Amino acid sequence: MEKNFNRYLVTSALPYANGPVHIGHLAGVYIPSDIYTRYLRLKGEDVLSICGSDEHGVPITIKAKKEGVSPQDIVDKYHNIIKEAFKGLGISFDIYSRTSSDIHKETASDFFKTLYDKGEFIEKTTQQFYDEEAKQFLADRYITGTCPHCKNDKAYGDQCEACGTSLNATDLIEAKSAITGNKPVLKDTKHWFLPLDKHEAFLKEWILENHKEWKPNVYGQCKSWLDLGLQPRAVSRDLDWGVPVPVEGADGKVLYVWFDAPIGYISATKELTPNWEDYWKKDDTKLVHFIGKDNIVFHCIVFPSMLKADGSYILPENVPANEFLNLENDKISTSRNWAVWLHEYLEDFKGKEDVLRYVLCANAPETKDNDFTWRDFQARNNNELVAILGNFVNRALVLTHKYFNGVVPAKAELTDYDKEVLAEIPVIKQKVEKNIEIYKFREALKELMNLARLGNKYLADTEPWKLIKTDEERVKTILNISLQISASLSVLMEPFIPFSADKLKGFLNISDISWENVGSSDIIATGHQINKASLLFEKIDDKEIEVQLQKLEETKKANLADNYTPAEQKENVSFDDFMKMDIRTATILSAEKVAKTKKLLKLEVDTGVDKRTVVSGIAEYYKPEDIIGKQVSILINLEPRKIKGIESQGMILMAEDADGTLQFISPTNTIKNGSEIR
Ligand code: MF3
Ligand code: ZN
Repeated sequence: MEKNFNRYLVTSALPYANGPVHIGHLAGVYIPSDIYTRYLRLKGEDVLSICGSDEHGVPITIKAKKEGVSPQDIVDKYHNIIKEAFKGLGISFDIYSRTSSDIHKETASDFFKTLYDKGEFIEKTTQQFYDEEAKQFLADRYITGTCPHCKNDKAYGDQCEACGTSLNATDLIEAKSAITGNKPVLKDTKHWFLPLDKHEAFLKEWILENHKEWKPNVYGQCKSWLDLGLQPRAVSRDLDWGVPVPVEGADGKVLYVWFDAPIGYISATKELTPNWEDYWKKDDTKLVHFIGKDNIVFHCIVFPSMLKADGSYILPENVPANEFLNLENDKISTSRNWAVWLHEYLEDFKGKEDVLRYVLCANAPETKDNDFTWRDFQARNNNELVAILGNFVNRALVLTHKYFNGVVPAKAELTDYDKEVLAEIPVIKQKVEKNIEIYKFREALKELMNLARLGNKYLADTEPWKLIKTDEERVKTILNISLQISASLSVLMEPFIPFSADKLKGFLNISDISWENVGSSDIIATGHQINKASLLFEKIDDKEIEVQLQKLEETKKANLADNYTPAEQKENVSFDDFMKMDIRTATILSAEKVAKTKKLLKLEVDTGVDKRTVVSGIAEYYKPEDIIGKQVSILINLEPRKIKGIESQGMILMAEDADGTLQFISPTNTIKNGSEIR
């Protein structure tokens, strides 16, 4: 049974203030959450949309150190860029706050204190690497060394990017501090842990039993976490940037960023309204977290456990996380500058905010990773916004001006076709609603466009421009109906493309049509004077797209040229030694993820010689379904070895890019499997 809610609290993941916002963030989180909140507001619901910058954590301190400025300087800079960019795109948060604010520090500190006083934490002393020269404990990312599994000498304290094993810093051979290069020493340190295991039974029931309606990607991730069993998680860190741990003897310790950040939702609400407790503590509030898939565990498991441990808060009703968006077939990457940055888009495409909103919604990674390409962006603008939506309303408006001086003509007797068309408006409206309410925004947008398609078809079928000489009464009816559709569109468009919705309302000279009115056959009155219209959307020509593609080309070149020092040449080997390596071409027959690992794929390959199993650390760069049938190179006489209990027979050869991403070495044309490579 769907509960009855009297109020909505919508949160959007707080972006890290160590870089600007890009299209991946928008498609994954902020466009969906904005559609959802705008829709609720239009329906007259009581809704708050909450966001802000996430300003703590190790990466911000690393960036500050690199640039020789303070962490506060970094977050000030990006907080403002992000805030302005959201505003420019019409993302209508009720508040965009930040976690370095006093109100947040106090709220997070109090939250910790309450749990501490209730005995909800476990205290544990563990040993942690410490840099004696820098006089500080080292976060895992600040430690490098040699991987005990594959001997890669650039492994990090939390994982080896070469073989994909997740590590503890203490596993590393010859660990080094990334700050001074010194050998770190182990030192005792005390931390507070949230015993997630204690909440496991509750979480299982709450999610696995009572929230089966959550998106499959979200439900599935929760299930695999819960099936594995939960462990206590440290909620403090040895760091000098963050919210100080508010208990005695915690000098030099701050709350872990993933502990304080979600509390940022609460502190921002507090900052916004004295009634904040209605939104956070009353059962008839519907709390919805919009996030990307990398945030699922924190919003479905950790934060709810924190809220539950406190006991006075409600829990999220849904967490509609999206998958990732790629850019021109390549993973979006801040460090490689492979992204379309929102603040740059707004500069380059002035007045085209809605085009980006439209494309990112139409192509949102709701069920799987998706690709953004500039050609698709152009095509959707020209073939959909311009040719379908813009074209329809423009014809309705222009014809009304031409034949009736811009006065809405009266309907005469309706034909069956007219009635059918009018009856379709509330049906489409309902489909838009249904889909928004179950977080299927792409579907909802498609339905909206179907209404414009219906309008186009209606005009094409009835041909008022031909009838005007012979049957003016009929033309009046046709244009009246076309204007009813246009007015309905102007309301339904608002959540998705608000700038164009306003523009259209301006053309129609209407302002006060509510969502509820859409679907009645007279939402725009006979005799009403409409305004002069101009184009709702404009074509984007090849030149504009080429500029963007050129920009990406430059990025690629810069990435190849910049700060990349190829590994030094190794010692010579004899020809005979070289010939000992048996390298062949092979085809991937099947691929699947190795359970409980992030990076490993188990591959079946046809080497020409035989069919065999190889375990390969490429899961972050290739999806199993995308590589089946791909031809690759394989070293077939590498001694077999067991990886995660699977015998791996050989090694797929990969080229490693400057940023550590891996690519297959494939023949340029298809070649027989088993061909020797030398
Ligand atoms: N800053 C995080 C990210 O970008 C999201 C934080 S969401 C919050 O992945 F809940 F912690 F606020
Ligand atoms: Zn390794």
